[in-house]
Amino acid sequence: MPEAVELDLILIGFGHVGRRFVRLLDERRDALRAEAGTIARVVGVATARHGCAFDPAGLDATAAAARVEGGGSLADLSPAPPAGALDLIARARASARPSVVVETTVLDVRAGQPAIDHVRAAIAAGAHVVTANKGPAAFAYHDLAAAARAAGVAFLFEGAVMDGIPIFNLVRETMPLVRIEGFRGVINTTTNQILAGLERGEAFDTVLARMQAAGIAEADPSLDLNGWDAAAKTAALANVLMDARLTPHAIQRTGIGPAIAAPAKAALARGRRLKLVASAERRAGTVAGRVEPIELPAGDVLAGLDGPANALVLKTDLLGEVTIVQGAGDLTQTAYALVSDLVAVRRRLGAPPPASGRRTP
Ligand SMILES: NC(=O)c1ccc[n+]([C@@H]2O[C@H](COP(=O)([O-])OP(=O)(O)OC[C@H]3O[C@@H](n4cnc5c(N)ncnc54)[C@H](OP(=O)(O)O)[C@@H]3O)[C@@H](O)[C@H]2O)c1
Repeated sequence: MPEAVELDLILIGFGHVGRRFVRLLDERRDALRAEAGTIARVVGVATARHGCAFDPAGLDATAAAARVEGGGSLADLSPAPPAGALDLIARARASARPSVVVETTVLDVRAGQPAIDHVRAAIAAGAHVVTANKGPAAFAYHDLAAAARAAGVAFLFEGAVMDGIPIFNLVRETMPLVRIEGFRGVINTTTNQILAGLERGEAFDTVLARMQAAGIAEADPSLDLNGWDAAAKTAALANVLMDARLTPHAIQRTGIGPAIAAPAKAALARGRRLKLVASAERRAGTVAGRVEPIELPAGDVLAGLDGPANALVLKTDLLGEVTIVQGAGDLTQTAYALVSDLVAVRRRLGAPPPASGRRTP
């Protein structure tokens, strides 16, 4: 059994993903300690409209989640609540234990903010970063990864694409020397559910409302429908796996709306399926990315995906095509991605730190 290391968690964002994350930590507390040598203690939470809290001795995070769900504020949970996310992150500097900033604010497709500032501040404070937000890897991957390397901290974002399915880890950890030549995939659950629902004759708005109620659609669902979410994932995948320098704005993007019902049904009648396909390829020394509805033949692995399923086909030089299929993504899987990144941070730390002071990984 690995010796347990205590990690101070600072949660920036406490919405659907952040709250499922703290409950999953609670559900798996014993396994985290016994199998991964990790004791995770939430010491701070920052939100936009529900206040902030900080207690170096640890907060009752599941009670805080219930409070937010009841419409309450976190502001009176601690004697000196932080003024906001950056104030809270700065408090990591004073901790004797390794700190991990867990960034789950909403995706901003204009510039990836404020998540990028949160990640930069965390790295500057000597904290590790785990995030489910696509913004940092989609807009600033190379800068942030270099800053994290220089500071000796982790910058991990497994939950940003395909929830808890280990896409980035798969390539990073298990495909040494392999060059990713391109990829194509169905990587936005909301639009895939809508297209499948339209094939069944359901109304566009009905399926969208279901996705919103389940917390799967983005806070602003137009990000899913207009292809921005898929474009952000495409940029993140290309930047990390193909060493590209893309932002979501560089991705050629076509989304879907209610008018896609007729072509989706017509495709199905021909034994084919309409899917919102995200792809990237190397072209003339650079990487080009696209998101667009494409009618696929029945034999295509992407055509076989039912509503909640996602899949990514990696085109590689040494392994040919490697396909990873996710049967259904939900909040638990995104929360699991954050937990798995936390365990990765713990592994980097090696043996427990000495009693006095922070250990450099
Ligand atoms: N939901 C999914 O299935 C899923 C899957 C994969 C990845 N993601 C990504 O995970 C992230 C979180 O998603 P979610 O569904 O949890 O979103 P959400 O429910 O809208 O929660 C977002 C949280 O961020 C907080 N926030 C926004 N701006 C902030 C700021 N400047 N400082 C501090 N807190 C701030 C919000 O505060 P208030 O509560 O006060 O508004 C809220 O607590 C997004 O980037 C999303 O793209 C989500």
